Amino acid sequence: MKIKRLAILFCLLATASAIMADEFIRINTNNIEMILRVKSDNGRVFQSYLGKRLKFESDLLHLPQGGEVYLTHGMEDYFEPAIDVRHADGNASTLLTYVEHKQETAADGSQHTVITLQDKVYGTQVRLHFFAYADEDVIKTHTEIVNGEKKPVMLEKYASSMLHLTGGKYWLTEFSGNWADEGHMSTAPLNFGKKVLDTKLGTRANLFTPPMFILSVGEQATEDHGQVMLGQLGWTGNFRFTFEVDESDNLRLISGINPYFSSYELGAKETFTTPEFFFTMSYEGLSRASRNLHNWARKYQLKDGQKGRLTLLNNWEATYFDFNEGILSTIIKDASEMGFELFLLDDGWFGEKYPRNNDDAGLGDWMVNSKKLPNGIGYLVEEATRNGIKFGIWLEPEMVNPRSELYEKHPDWVITQPNREIDLSRNQLILDLCNPKVQDYVFSVVDNTLKENPGIAYVKWDCNRFVTNSGSYYLSADKQSHLWIEYVRGLYRVFERVRANHPEVSIMLCSGGGGRIDYASLRYFDEFWISDNTDAFNRIFIQWGTTHFFPAMALASHVSASPCHQTGRVTPLKFRFDVAMSAKLGMDLQPMNMTEEEKSFSKKAIEEYYTFREIVQHGDLYRLLSPYTNPRTAMMYVSEDKQDAVVFTYLLEKVINGGNNQVLYLKGLDPNKTYRLNELNKEPNKWTWFYELEGKSYTGEYLMKYGLRFPMYNQFESKIIRLTAE
Ligand code: DGJ
Repeated sequence: MKIKRLAILFCLLATASAIMADEFIRINTNNIEMILRVKSDNGRVFQSYLGKRLKFESDLLHLPQGGEVYLTHGMEDYFEPAIDVRHADGNASTLLTYVEHKQETAADGSQHTVITLQDKVYGTQVRLHFFAYADEDVIKTHTEIVNGEKKPVMLEKYASSMLHLTGGKYWLTEFSGNWADEGHMSTAPLNFGKKVLDTKLGTRANLFTPPMFILSVGEQATEDHGQVMLGQLGWTGNFRFTFEVDESDNLRLISGINPYFSSYELGAKETFTTPEFFFTMSYEGLSRASRNLHNWARKYQLKDGQKGRLTLLNNWEATYFDFNEGILSTIIKDASEMGFELFLLDDGWFGEKYPRNNDDAGLGDWMVNSKKLPNGIGYLVEEATRNGIKFGIWLEPEMVNPRSELYEKHPDWVITQPNREIDLSRNQLILDLCNPKVQDYVFSVVDNTLKENPGIAYVKWDCNRFVTNSGSYYLSADKQSHLWIEYVRGLYRVFERVRANHPEVSIMLCSGGGGRIDYASLRYFDEFWISDNTDAFNRIFIQWGTTHFFPAMALASHVSASPCHQTGRVTPLKFRFDVAMSAKLGMDLQPMNMTEEEKSFSKKAIEEYYTFREIVQHGDLYRLLSPYTNPRTAMMYVSEDKQDAVVFTYLLEKVINGGNNQVLYLKGLDPNKTYRLNELNKEPNKWTWFYELEGKSYTGEYLMKYGLRFPMYNQFESKIIRLTAE
């Protein structure tokens, strides 16, 4: 008996000493933590923990080993690997062990951890980078892969990151859609096996789904409860997320470039750097997770995230291609009279030999169409200046129509497979940004337009097709599978150069609507055009989804005509304004077609927007009632000091008897402050039930506990309510 006890004690001591010798690497923010364990016996590195930040060092010993931090192909192939290298001798296995790690404060103040792993036989090195942003609970991660051999190797898989979750149950919310129909949210449980979210469309990569997801862990998270991760890949091209649940209900999450037709030859001693994967985790539900990302983005990622954004009037839905100098001058005047800050000239202003009078010609020929605009762009810039507003211009510099002088000169500059018919989409082809000469050209389009017209304050950068026939004349036959990667790298080189020369110009990223939405592009862009669907009803859903990841200041939203050009739906002007004002306000219609009442309503609406846009663009977002589950939807923004807030609510379905009485339980207010309520953007001479609350004051506690209560009756009725602390 005694001997048996001694044996057990001995075993326990042995295990403890082995565990004791393991090294732990802690990557943490204020509230979340990832713990990696370097195994003393074999040098392999595992992720032992990802969850709430732990307090006691002694608890680390109790953590399980966890999953391999960057699972390799060719050794233990139970699960999808993060990396798959074909070594120069044809060997397809990699085994990574710990070399060293460093932790330091990065230039932007985040905690930077880099862990170096190496394959002892082949010298392949992997450096895992993690940047932890303490206050925002955001972790940004990417990987560098170094070929340590004397000959090239083939990378078949090269994830940005691999994460392990052990919550037992998981729900994935994905975003899906199509042109003018972006951002549908749908949630489903993740059961055993794999779920993949990916795209292989290249340029307009996010047409069907953007590189973002919401993952609930343990239970299905709500706005205010539950453990939830929001993840986003910063890559303006093909991406892939793989969610793999194993037989013990552990979840492996791999994110990165889509390896589809993307084997990458890495030369001797060369380094491959993956895109960045960003994630936040919240234990207080979705709303908190979104605010984490918004705060982080405004501070660290979004171009000029601390500055304001301009309101604008865009002539796309006003004129389409059918305009001239006179028509534009009148729109500029109307835009200025209504109070907009900028006029944006859209597609159709260029092309001489092949004038751009519709979408089948002219792309690539960025000289002004002198028939439409005899006095050039400069005249319109002056016209805008004379009217006290700024001027912006549309470009689609990556594209070319076969009916263009550019294509006549450079038919080999486009992406297409030799020996195949060219495959047109919107009558256009994509310029091959793998080619440095094409990069120079695309850069020069933007640079020259801005240099020749120094008054241009804004650019809308469009991209209206995705890649098919994915072949490059520039890349050699054995490097064709580099196309998807080299295109995006070429694009970023162009973005860098544009930004170096024109840091002050605001640029909107558009891709036939929301076909390109990710945090890597937002380093260079001030805002996104998230959909060509300007129907305010549809927009509520699209904005609801997109604000899970991106702050309102980056989401351009335009008031357009009724009936809406895309859907034919008729909605009140106030409703259209109230929806657009919950993001970054603009307009996309012909003011000439408005009545005097509509113009004066618009003028007043814009004036009022200026009194609260700061709260929308820089405040904290709280989603109150989802349009997916309620006939009435609502959300609000609260200023950082909690002195000001603004609530938006919209009725999506008419309620005949009794009206819709859904309570708006406000959030994010200071319970001890007293707030005065005022309705904004009111329709003149129209009585509504809110009048009973108008001008009254309530404590934050009351508004959050008892709520804001007033009925709404008619479909597309909307309200904006301002709260001011007294
Ligand atoms: C697609 C964009 O999304 C529209 O807003 C408009 O700019 C057109 N392209 C112009 O061709």
